[in-house]
Amino acid sequence: MKIALTGANSRVGQTLLTHILSHSEHTVVAGARSRGAFAGFPDSPRVAPVVIDYNDAAGLAVALDAADCLVHLAGILIESNGSTYQSANVDATAAVLNAARQAGVGHVVFISVVGAHLQSANAYFKSKADAERLVADCGISATIIRTPILLGPGAAGAAAIQWAASKPRVRLLGGGRYTMHPLDIDDLCVAILNSCNARHAGTVVHELVGPQAVQYCDLIRMGADLQGRQIEISSVPIWLAKLGASLKGLFRPGGMSPTVIDVITLDEVIAHNADQALGVNLTPLSITLKKFIKQ
Ligand SMILES: NC(=O)c1ccc[n+]([C@@H]2O[C@H](COP(=O)([O-])OP(=O)(O)OC[C@H]3O[C@@H](n4cnc5c(N)ncnc54)[C@H](OP(=O)(O)O)[C@@H]3O)[C@@H](O)[C@H]2O)c1
Repeated sequence: MKIALTGANSRVGQTLLTHILSHSEHTVVAGARSRGAFAGFPDSPRVAPVVIDYNDAAGLAVALDAADCLVHLAGILIESNGSTYQSANVDATAAVLNAARQAGVGHVVFISVVGAHLQSANAYFKSKADAERLVADCGISATIIRTPILLGPGAAGAAAIQWAASKPRVRLLGGGRYTMHPLDIDDLCVAILNSCNARHAGTVVHELVGPQAVQYCDLIRMGADLQGRQIEISSVPIWLAKLGASLKGLFRPGGMSPTVIDVITLDEVIAHNADQALGVNLTPLSITLKKFIKQ
């Protein structure tokens, strides 16, 4: 099978490349927006790096040519000057799906987020839901996987935990008293690979979360424990952090905005975990933490 990846240089993309090489015979077209991003790709005759430009419809279709499955990973939580929710999450998805149709791609796997909703007042969740809608309407069979925070070496969420857990005292938004279900990136990669292999008609939406519900403050304590440290956790009021972020946004848009603060402090509600449907044996949280907490 030939798999095409967008955002192949993302944290998930780089982990997925390793999984594909270790657990399958598939070949991969690894798409990234710049040649410099290829440095993180494994050196293998089965991985073909390609520069993709989401504004170049013809070039995108060539990149996806003869791919059996497209895994669309490009997407952002934190906006910057060059990348907004509209451009990175919605417009890039529309462009890549148009190209996939032209190229005759057989199946699409799209990574969304727990909380994506078309009526959401949160611009990030709304943009991911808009992208899901594009996927569902594109006329190609598709698997949408909604994930919570992803943890593993090199993941942004993992770096934040490592940083906080290595301090003697730390201030967390709302004291870190919000509940999440962190998912091991390796488990997501198993789910993606299984979704590429198993085809179905139409679009299926799955929520895939980790095996343990945990408050963020307890996650930081678990990280500190692993390092044999005590940690004192205090609280930054969420409203105050959002006010500060709003003021900062007047001068420098993007970064840690009120939208991002709402996303990361959300109490996750899960309707049904698709671990079995996606053929994933979930990694215990304690094992996931050991993969990236320096001990
Ligand atoms: N990490 C999590 O906890 C988490 C949670 C839920 C869902 N997800 C989703 O999972 C996917 C992979 O996440 P990740 O954390 O591995 O991503 P990541 O490491 O942050 O990488 C983001 C990717 O998006 C690309 N990108 C940024 N702006 C873009 C734009 N305007 N147009 C096209 N591509 C753009 C980046 O390319 P450049 O390097 O060229 O900028 C990069 O390949 C994303 O869709 C993300 O929304 C992640």
